[in-house]
This record gives sequence, C-alpha cells and structure tokens, in this order.
Amino acid sequence: MIRPLRLGVNIDHVATIRNARGGHHPDPVRAAHLAAAAGADGITAHLREDRRHIADRDIERLANEIALPLNLEMAATEEMVAVALRHRPHAACIVPERREERTTEGGLDVAGAVERLRPLVGRLVDAGIRVSMFIEPDPRQLDAARAIGAPVVELHTGAYCEHEGEGRDRELARIVAAAAHAAAIGLECHAGHGLSYDTVKPVAAIAAIVELNIGHFLVGEAIFVGFDAAIRHMRALMDEGRRGSGA
Ligand code: PXP
Repeated sequence: MIRPLRLGVNIDHVATIRNARGGHHPDPVRAAHLAAAAGADGITAHLREDRRHIADRDIERLANEIALPLNLEMAATEEMVAVALRHRPHAACIVPERREERTTEGGLDVAGAVERLRPLVGRLVDAGIRVSMFIEPDPRQLDAARAIGAPVVELHTGAYCEHEGEGRDRELARIVAAAAHAAAIGLECHAGHGLSYDTVKPVAAIAAIVELNIGHFLVGEAIFVGFDAAIRHMRALMDEGRRGSGA
C-alpha cells in the first residue's frame, strides 16, 4: 500500500505581495481557500516577529475561516507561544529567525538549545498542538528533537534544492538517512523549503516522509499558470514520486 503524502501550502508570499503596497490585495486567506479547493491537505503560515508578510489578523482569519488544518510556523519566543495558545492551530512548526538559533545550514539548532526549548515545546504539546521542529537532516538534531518531546520534525530541504548534480545527490542521501532515523526513533517526518517541480519527486519518494510544505515556488508559478493549476501540478508530481517509490 502506498502511504499518503500530505501537501501543506504555505501562503506567506501572497502576503509578501500584499504588503509591498499595503492594503488588502492579494488576500492570503483567499489564497488558502483556493489551495483547499485545489487539493491542499493543510495551510501553512509563518507569523514572523517582524510581521514582514503574514499579519496577526491573517492568523486569526485562517484559524476561523479555513476548514483545513493550520500549521503555524513560529519562532521559539514567548510572544509566539501566546499567539499559538490563543488560536490553537492544528500544528506549530518551530523555526529559527535569528542567526544564533540556526545551524550553519539553516535549520533550528535544537541540540544547542535543549534546555530552553523543552519547556516551550511542552506548553504547546500540552495545549494539544502538534509541534514540529524545523531542522537540518542531521541525526544529532533529530535526537535532540525527540529528547525535548516534539512528536514531529520537518527536514530542511533548502541545501538539497540549492545544489545541483552530485551535490544534490549527496544532500538527498542525507534527507533519506534522516527520514529513516526519524522513523526509527518514533518521530513523524515532514520536509520542506525551496521545493519546486524540479526537486519535489525524489523527496516525495521517501516513504518515511508524510508531509511536504511548499510555498514560494507555488506563489511564483501562480503568476504564470494560476494558483489552482500550480498546486494541482505539484500534487500530481508528488503522487508520481510517491508511486514510483512503491512507498
Ligand atoms: N517549511 C518551513 C519550516 C519553512 O520555514 C518554509 C518557508 O517559510 C517552508 C517549509 C516553505 O518553503 P518555500 O516557501 O521555499 O516552499
């Protein structure tokens, strides 16, 4: 049996375009409705500390108006924990926003902040929020995520997408190994960042990965083919990758 692979559509960059001019257009909540109609399994939005794209009001509207599960990407701060506890999204993905929080490659340095992150993650988990840690495909970070009680990890696919040729193969091998390690230690495994039509299939083929979160490419491609068609094509490529793997 092929294991299902969910698509979370990240709508941050609809808000980036809106904010370039102020006002209300284009509306990220309208984009979320469209994503739902196009077959997305969830909506992802990152409320940044500097509010450079998604605004507090967007999160409130997404939580109230969208039937799909909401995945709130957030920094590990008291302010963001308060937002999450107020809106109770289905999921919260803890991401680095400051230099000192991230590893050299870009994922959250969970291993370097276990004592700080454990109570914060615990409060979110206790509130019934499914917490994931956005980390590099590095076994040390996976073990640390498990140690602090996060049930889910999201593997950073940025380096895999940025490289070409052998470098990309090497990065993919790291993701494959990390996904297997996640399964072995009982973590649910997601992946995302930088995925496009060109890069999605090998990641979709990894059986232990159950969710991909994709945004920037879809919003960019929507300029040419529309958001609905871009999401449907991405979904079809994910399904092809998954079937090819026999996952
Ligand atoms: N997953 C996480 C944790 C992210 O922070 C982002 C970027 O906001 C994504 C997935 C989506 O990345 P992209 O917009 O490059 O598809």
